[in-house]
Amino acid sequence: MKLRILYLSLLLIAAPVFAASPKPPQAAVASAHPLATKAGMEVLAEGGNAVDAAIAVSAALSVVEPYSSGIGGGGLWLLHRDSDGTDTMVDGREYAPGAASADMYQDKSGNVIPGASTEGPLSAAIPGAPAAWVYMAKKYGHLTLAQDLAPAIRLARDGFPLDSRFHEMIAAKLDLLKRWPGAAAVFLDNGQVPAEGWLLRQPDLAQTFELLASQGDPGFYAGARAKQMVDAVRAAGGIWTLDDLKQYKVVERKPLTGDYLGMHVVSAPPPSSGGAVLIEILNILAGYDLAHMDAVTQKHLVIEAMRYAYHDRADYLGDPDFVQMPLERLMNTYYAAGLRATILMDKATPSSALTPVTLPVLGNNTTHYSVLDKDGNMVSATVTVNFRFGSCFMAPGTGVTLNDEMDDFSSKPGVPNGYGLVGNSANAIAPHKRPLSSMTPTFLEKPDGVAILGTPGGSRIISMVLLGALDFFKGGDARSIVSLPRYHQQYLPDMVGYEDGAITDAEVAALEKMGYTLKDQGRWGNMQAITWDYKSGKVSAAADPRGIGTAEVH
Ligand code: DON
Repeated sequence: MKLRILYLSLLLIAAPVFAASPKPPQAAVASAHPLATKAGMEVLAEGGNAVDAAIAVSAALSVVEPYSSGIGGGGLWLLHRDSDGTDTMVDGREYAPGAASADMYQDKSGNVIPGASTEGPLSAAIPGAPAAWVYMAKKYGHLTLAQDLAPAIRLARDGFPLDSRFHEMIAAKLDLLKRWPGAAAVFLDNGQVPAEGWLLRQPDLAQTFELLASQGDPGFYAGARAKQMVDAVRAAGGIWTLDDLKQYKVVERKPLTGDYLGMHVVSAPPPSSGGAVLIEILNILAGYDLAHMDAVTQKHLVIEAMRYAYHDRADYLGDPDFVQMPLERLMNTYYAAGLRATILMDKATPSSALTPVTLPVLGNNTTHYSVLDKDGNMVSATVTVNFRFGSCFMAPGTGVTLNDEMDDFSSKPGVPNGYGLVGNSANAIAPHKRPLSSMTPTFLEKPDGVAILGTPGGSRIISMVLLGALDFFKGGDARSIVSLPRYHQQYLPDMVGYEDGAITDAEVAALEKMGYTLKDQGRWGNMQAITWDYKSGKVSAAADPRGIGTAEVH
């Protein structure tokens, strides 16, 4: 985040009266659940900084939205510390158990076994979220971990009334939740979907949080809780060991950065594909005078840029601790110019014309939240258990819903995963390797303001963040960014999906004439954004109208 310093120096020259570094007049939290937003605001009011609030929001989401993210999952936390301008990413992505192998989800004939990488304990990778909370509280927080976790502990112990979304999620996963007694005991009412308004209490989860708060990592990754989880996972066909838990480590990584016509972009590096794909798309688009083009041409070029960058995602990306990636080339502006030269102004490029590789989409879980504190510290965090309720497996007595993040690996080259994504060896399963993610927690900074944004949505995450970035570039605030109708192209399938209102009928007709296949695909995403305009001082925060989230500014 270097532009604020530039802006500040301009201010100092122009108006020395603003001697202090600009600080936001208000703090803000935007998350996918009102109780999680409140947890973040509570911790800020107690003197916590953005990182404390981020931990509080994340832990609260683990209680009120465990179908999206939580203590049994992982996430990517992009942090900005304002005092020295540090941007960093805390990688709390899950890793594969030590006994995992490239073909573990294939039968003897080499066919991928349906459900093996998405259901039950064999689909669960080793959680990273609890280690990330411990790490962030210690290194970047002001308060203790116990203070950060207090709102979540209260919510878990005292309970909260089941909301309509939670109710829907349980109904959608009833069969799987019934299969595992640990999960059924917590989320079902006598084996059935509880009514809306039912008081959901999770005392075991509260106790797991307390162990973490009092002992740090060993509270979860060693001792009684670890043993309970490993025993239950193994008894039900999983392959976790105590050593897998003990060896798990958070990795702090340098975010990827790029510039789009003066807008600075800070986003997630591998093991997410998000930042690299986002920056590659923006580099391609930076060579066009989009602002002076008609709407059809603008959309055509955005779609083409998505196609090329998603194609590269399929080919190259994986866990940086295991695979070499040509990141510098992919994010180089000359490389983008080369791709631009192949894009025709009046015709869609068939995806089949690109070298054959991978992928497709979808997904409606995982969760994102954004935090800004009054010191200008920022957190953009996307956290996940992958599919709804992850593996649906819970070791009895722990309250921990285990993820099914193993499905983000490629179970077999060329065979699509749950999002239709195909991969090659870069994203093959290996012991203690992190599966490739699409999560794209991002900061954007223009000379006159900053945006903190991200969203769930599987492979569509990146195109949503891209459209948000282009909107912010044109002057959109948080409300506009999260509400924006969306469209998406991801190389394969060779098709453009769009939401109602994103592409008009006339534009659809014009794009079809250029060779595109378009499909109205309903609504997707659950973006949470904060914007801060340096000049007016206005802080705006907004939750995606497609979800039930809330944003607060105080
Ligand atoms: O890390 C990833 O890319 C996926 N586990 C995210 C899944 C997701 O966003 C599901 N959502 N709607």
